[in-house]
Amino acid sequence: MNDIQDTARWHPVARAADLRPGANIVAGFAEGQELALWRAADGTPQAWENRCPHRSVRFTLGQVVGNRLSCAYHGWQYAAGSGQCTSIPAHPAMQAPRNVCAKTFAVAEAAGMLWVHLSPEAPPAPSALADAIPAGWHFCRTLTARASAGAVRAAMQRRGLSFDDATGAWTGRLGGTRAAALVLDAQPALAFVHLWSDAAPGSDAMKNLHAAARSLRGDIEALPTPE
Ligand code: FES
Repeated sequence: MNDIQDTARWHPVARAADLRPGANIVAGFAEGQELALWRAADGTPQAWENRCPHRSVRFTLGQVVGNRLSCAYHGWQYAAGSGQCTSIPAHPAMQAPRNVCAKTFAVAEAAGMLWVHLSPEAPPAPSALADAIPAGWHFCRTLTARASAGAVRAAMQRRGLSFDDATGAWTGRLGGTRAAALVLDAQPALAFVHLWSDAAPGSDAMKNLHAAARSLRGDIEALPTPE
């Protein structure tokens, strides 16, 4: 597998800054896979299937306890990294069975984003991900589009944005403002577009980009989803 294909299979699921060490759990999606995204107290990011292996309750209802994630229903705890169950509160003297394990995915941090690879044999994250967003650019917004990622990409192409195979980023001008965009294929008819710009926050150029993003979404959602 070459580097370009590797990049395409890493999904920009969340902003890295939205995950606080030992604190919150963020719901995410990639290619229809529902995810629980969190950061252990030691700072390591985690991307897990959003389902407790005990009774399938969503992990996003639970809480982070140090370097573990605790399920909301019966309080079973799972270790960061391995996903291994480490504690069953109803049976404190019992060692948790070794085969009880949360499903975990490979995760990487680059360009201010958390990236997830869904394959159980994920290769190391391509170094090019770090160049997806130019250093010093400002985050604008994450646009939600009720359309396929393919429809979003087609719309960006029609607006004259260029795609960089190596980084997976789209760059060009939206509303006259320089922009860089990452597209997340969340579900068959749901995509997210993370947008950055070199325009200053609050500037007219940034406001123009916000307006152009809303217009782009209108165009995307008005069109039939391509096969
Ligand atoms: S469903 Fe999660 S601990 Fe029981």
